[in-house]
Amino acid sequence: MNPLPSAIPAASADSLCYLNGDYTRLADARVSVLDRGFMFGDGVYEVLPVYDRRLFRFDEHMARLERSLAKVRITAPLTREDWLARMRRLVAAQHEHSGATDQLVYLQVTRGVALREHTMPTDIEPTVFMMCSPAKPPTPEQRHAGVACISARDFRWERGDIKSISLLGNVLARQMSADKGAVETLLFRDGFLTEAAASNVWMVKEGALIGPPKSELLLEGVRVDLLAELCEECGIGYSLRPVSEGEVFSADELLLSSAMKEVLAVTRLDGELVGHGALRGKPGPVYARLYEAYQRAKPAQSI
Ligand SMILES: Cc1ncc(COP(=O)(O)O)c(C=O)c1O
Repeated sequence: MNPLPSAIPAASADSLCYLNGDYTRLADARVSVLDRGFMFGDGVYEVLPVYDRRLFRFDEHMARLERSLAKVRITAPLTREDWLARMRRLVAAQHEHSGATDQLVYLQVTRGVALREHTMPTDIEPTVFMMCSPAKPPTPEQRHAGVACISARDFRWERGDIKSISLLGNVLARQMSADKGAVETLLFRDGFLTEAAASNVWMVKEGALIGPPKSELLLEGVRVDLLAELCEECGIGYSLRPVSEGEVFSADELLLSSAMKEVLAVTRLDGELVGHGALRGKPGPVYARLYEAYQRAKPAQSI
């Protein structure tokens, strides 16, 4: 067996993961080169935040996993109860290992192992993998000042609604921003906002939060409905409707949402300051209220 490359710290290599019914050290977990995840990117995944060792919005993440599995015609390999029990065991092991109480659970299900052929074999078992890592939330500086993003044409496939492990389009899009020292790439298809490489994107206009409609072109982030609830709680208007490139570039505020970013203010886009007047280039009031509401939701919505 090849040792893990030295780029992977020993602390991570030693942490526990779950593979097809067994718990092993991450460094010892092995799958076949014929796994269709390796051959075709034929699988789906989820990323769940863990706060104080409890899973946030577990049912919503599981519902999306079930939708993704159904869309790619992989039979759900575990029940929600089974997922939960296994995740809790990994979260406890990661806590023992690193002391981290806030973590991220990554899980993936691939179609399984078969001789390489595009058509879907019917008689194979899915490969089920899961690992936990300490959370890497935005830095205090990013919270305080907001972050820089760039924009690009959305050149990915048209099934962004499937949380597919085939992420090459997203990897290329995200690297475009990394190359410019920015944290995300906002994507536009035919002049309208879809999402970012690994986040949903929101604009604030006249005090209301507005995001693109749910469709096959973008992922329905677990935070899309959560933000609707938080807006309701805070008395902030909320709507999903087509958002043009022009509106994004003249927005009062721009926000990202994802499991790890929670909500995060975008204060520079393609090198220009976001917003107007005294708040230009600064995180705005809608961001601040949603961020506070999000912190309150964490203990309330974790199991
Ligand atoms: C392409 C894409 N869009 C949106 C999101 C946000 O989804 P969630 O809020 O469920 O993390 C992600 C999360 O990683 C993503 O990869």
